[in-house]
Amino acid sequence: MEIRGKVGVITGGSSGIGRATAQLLAKEGAKIVVADLDEAGGAETVERIESAGGHAVFVKADVTRIEDARRMLDTAVSKFGRLDILHNNAGIGVGAPGFPEAPPERWRLVIDIDLQAVVLGTGLAAPLMQKHGGGVIINTASMAGLYPHRQDVVYGAAKGGVVNFTHSLAFWEAERKIRVNCVCPGIVDTPMVRKGIEAATKLGFLAKPFVPAKMIQPEEIADAVVSLVRDDSLFGCALEIRPTGRQIVDPRRAPGSRK
Ligand SMILES: NC(=O)c1ccc[n+]([C@@H]2O[C@H](COP(=O)([O-])OP(=O)(O)OC[C@H]3O[C@@H](n4cnc5c(N)ncnc54)[C@H](O)[C@@H]3O)[C@@H](O)[C@H]2O)c1
Repeated sequence: MEIRGKVGVITGGSSGIGRATAQLLAKEGAKIVVADLDEAGGAETVERIESAGGHAVFVKADVTRIEDARRMLDTAVSKFGRLDILHNNAGIGVGAPGFPEAPPERWRLVIDIDLQAVVLGTGLAAPLMQKHGGGVIINTASMAGLYPHRQDVVYGAAKGGVVNFTHSLAFWEAERKIRVNCVCPGIVDTPMVRKGIEAATKLGFLAKPFVPAKMIQPEEIADAVVSLVRDDSLFGCALEIRPTGRQIVDPRRAPGSRK
């Protein structure tokens, strides 16, 4: 998809991967709706985009709520005239003390934000995208959704759900002209990870072996998201992103194909 002139909604756009993606898509010429609970962070993302000459607006939204999800997507249409790109990116982990010691409300919230909201955003975005001939949805999953993840098993379950949801929607490319792909990053240097490491260290958890020598930068994930938006040949795919490179995971292809 040619990005210039398109309109995208990015959830979790007030920080980390979402902010980096919002900035890069805006730099490529897309108009951006930044959706997040964090108003101050959202205002900063918008400010960064506008001061670089781009167009963006912030919508305070809890992605788990149907009315908020509808409002953030409708804003793309009311403010910028259409919806072409959705990056379902907002996410949290259970964090220390982990499962099952953390309160059950926390496990449920992780499933709600990391999986349920991805289903919600995707389902509500589809008819809006089809009004203008289709679109692209990129979900932020994780390597934790591709492999067992003992550090946070509920997070892994939610992200595994996102990966399967993405693979299963491959048929939307033919039926609705909507390409759904996901990114599966390893450990990325964002506030989420830094807070997690700090909390785990305070509680005496073994955080150190979990932290790789080289963390991935949010801009590298933004670059991967933009490549998936651009590349019309990819749909129903997961793009695994390690510090050492990227690999497309596509159940319809032989394993091992690299990009
Ligand atoms: N950082 C990593 O190592 C890593 C690795 C793989 C996947 N991910 C995924 O990347 C995504 C972004 O994470 P990040 O590392 O940039 O974290 P981050 O904490 O920097 O950003 C997450 C953003 O999501 C927002 N958010 C949380 N709950 C929300 C809700 N209910 N409604 C709206 N917004 C909400 C937060 O306010 C925050 O701005 C998440 O889905 C995360 O699981 C992160």
